[in-house]
Amino acid sequence: MIVCHCQSISDRDIRAAVDWMRAADAETIITPGKIYHALGKRADCGGCMPLFLDTMRGCDSFHVPGEIARDRPPVLRSRALRSVGPK
Ligand code: FES
Repeated sequence: MIVCHCQSISDRDIRAAVDWMRAADAETIITPGKIYHALGKRADCGGCMPLFLDTMRGCDSFHVPGEIARDRPPVLRSRALRSVGPK
């Protein structure tokens, strides 16, 4: 099924990209932008985002496995905090 009509990206393309990214890095946060980049494409109208996200989230390998995801939520820091942190 085509998910993104602007770029002709199918649900199979998205699942394959998610599986590939998870295999390459077990702790990576997978985003739509990373999937577009992995497929060598860029989003255009954005109309596919709800279905695109649902397809990503439905992949078995989408979530970060293991202790990190279950016990510790990801720490998000602003750029200002990162720039003054320990070096
Ligand atoms: S349908 Fe995906 S960017 Fe337009």
